[in-house]
Amino acid sequence: MRAFKAHLWGLAPYPYKKVEAPVKLDQNESPFDLPPSLKEEALRRLARLPWNRYPDIHAESLRKRLASLLDWPEEGIVLAPGSNLLILALSLAAEEVLDLSPTFPHYAHAARMAGTPYRAMALGEGFSLPLEEALALFQGGVFFLPNPHAPTGALFPEEALQALAERAKEVGGLLVVDEAYREFAGTDLRHLGRGNPHVALLRTFSKAYSLGGIRAGYLLAAPEVAQVVREVLPPFVLPAHTGVVLEVVLENPGYVQEVVETVRAERERVYGRLLSHPTWRPYRSHTNFLLVRTPDAGEAFRHLLAQGVLVRRQDHYPGLSGCIRVTVGLKEEMDAFLKAAFEVAYA
Ligand SMILES: Cc1ncc(COP(=O)(O)O)c(C=O)c1O
Repeated sequence: MRAFKAHLWGLAPYPYKKVEAPVKLDQNESPFDLPPSLKEEALRRLARLPWNRYPDIHAESLRKRLASLLDWPEEGIVLAPGSNLLILALSLAAEEVLDLSPTFPHYAHAARMAGTPYRAMALGEGFSLPLEEALALFQGGVFFLPNPHAPTGALFPEEALQALAERAKEVGGLLVVDEAYREFAGTDLRHLGRGNPHVALLRTFSKAYSLGGIRAGYLLAAPEVAQVVREVLPPFVLPAHTGVVLEVVLENPGYVQEVVETVRAERERVYGRLLSHPTWRPYRSHTNFLLVRTPDAGEAFRHLLAQGVLVRRQDHYPGLSGCIRVTVGLKEEMDAFLKAAFEVAYA
């Protein structure tokens, strides 16, 4: 076969395998569906929409709405069906992709797909940002930095991010802070990007907004950066139905706070309980998941699954031997997780 570019043959598949289980804690989804009244409103609007017509070419009306809600220039916003697609677009455009190890795997995957040179730097002690190394390695290109960090749940210090933002400006690169989990940390880094075109912020509706199935994310960037990313994406990329749902949630965002507060309280409860586990060690998290180090991730995974609880193994990542990642779900789901977790200790 000579149909495709050579580097695309044998590309490792994205590390996700669908497994059915009664308690699903493997994808960092919100445990809450959208409130029924909002779903009904979205369905009403969808029924009124002419389905034969294309949506806005670059989601203009939604960008306008986001611009006024976030006080960000409309020309600096890019909307796409999932921030994953924005990561791919940024990776296609990038001269080089830099990220951390471990980190959200799609950055490396997207860079490989794009055929873009790629380098990663190991997280420091206690999952800290390796600032000196990052400042030295960042010579241009796009640096993807999740904050809070996935899959550890750590939050990086503001001064370190500020230093990287300055470095991005010095070298002419782009620091992309992925704020996928920001609502669970209570952070908002828009100020890093105001007045610095070398910083962009990536956000998703898949987590706190409870819209994983709807597929929507956006980039906040300088207008000239956003322009490139919009053009790298296909035209009309945001489906009309996704747009309708976003319109409804942006008009009625009250439920998000409730999701965030419930998840945070549950996260802290489960973290506290796990501290008394004889062999498992939870890490502090600023997200909607907990990273937990166990003596054997495979055994922990299989034992939990046998009890109906599905989590995600993370032990294939450097520095995460024995680790599993547990999404914070409903109280009864977390009780099922805790029960199984403590059983394994005394088995
Ligand atoms: C750090 C991070 N960024 C981006 C995403 C993808 O978000 P989306 O659903 O908007 O593609 C995820 C999904 O888990 C994530 O963990």
